[in-house]
Amino acid sequence: MTDVFDGPRVVRTAAELRALAGSVALVPTMGALHDGHVQLMKHARPLADTLVVSIFVNPTQFAEGEDFTEYPRTFEDDLARCAEADVDVVFAPTVDVMYPSGHGAGQVTVDPGPLGSVLEGAVRPTHFRGVLTVVAALFGLVRPDVAVFGEKDYQQLGLIRRMVDTLCLGVEVVGCPTVREADGLAMSSRNRYLGPEDRQRAAAVPRALDAGVAAGPQGADAVLAAVHGVLAAAGIDPDYVALTSPDLGEHGGSGEARLLVAARVGAPRLLDNRAVHLGDPTSGTTPSEGA
Ligand code: PAF
Repeated sequence: MTDVFDGPRVVRTAAELRALAGSVALVPTMGALHDGHVQLMKHARPLADTLVVSIFVNPTQFAEGEDFTEYPRTFEDDLARCAEADVDVVFAPTVDVMYPSGHGAGQVTVDPGPLGSVLEGAVRPTHFRGVLTVVAALFGLVRPDVAVFGEKDYQQLGLIRRMVDTLCLGVEVVGCPTVREADGLAMSSRNRYLGPEDRQRAAAVPRALDAGVAAGPQGADAVLAAVHGVLAAAGIDPDYVALTSPDLGEHGGSGEARLLVAARVGAPRLLDNRAVHLGDPTSGTTPSEGA
């Protein structure tokens, strides 16, 4: 007789999570799962005995006026995507299970520190507090050995790593490369908000990053100019274009760096980033420094 895998088990309470067997890998999500999420799950699958995907649209990381209510909720489709990646358990808690003592003013939260108020944090000042608080609570509920996140939300990934180090949470945090559409657009649950014209224009964001990466040998100013040039030609006015060190501090002018872009294209804000090498890859200096 052949074994029939009939999809992940759906659990909704902390008590059910206590029964998880062996080592545990967690992929935290807000649902509306796409191929990028499936890649995260496939990456996580061999890392532990039990693979858990959490699906929870976290109210505390949305500010007033943001898209919390409209955020796509596609639970039945999400279960099918989880089955594709051989997920054992889908943890789909209610707000009361995630925040048993409430989540309003006066509750305990995780302070993201200075990195939480730059880049995305400058545009969405309460966002990372909400993200870190819910991720810490998910870690407390699921108690994973390893947790897998996408590099598309590069600042989020960096902050989660810092939180785990600072609070000694004992979870191995694994980052996975961004999964892209055929024209390079980074996959995101919010891409479905793009109308056909904006969807075409959105491809200028990864193109701008390509241009920035290609300008790396000419140094930081050339990288930034190349990115701005491509975005401007597509009529996109970015919220920011930033060049940082790989850990989101100041870049040193040469060597490995990270290039990050955020821009509203039609309804959604698109985020993307790439690794970039500044200066001569063989000498590790910019042309002006090396001259
Ligand atoms: O990246 C996301 O989907 C969310 O920010 C996360 C990490 C699941 C926390 O709600």
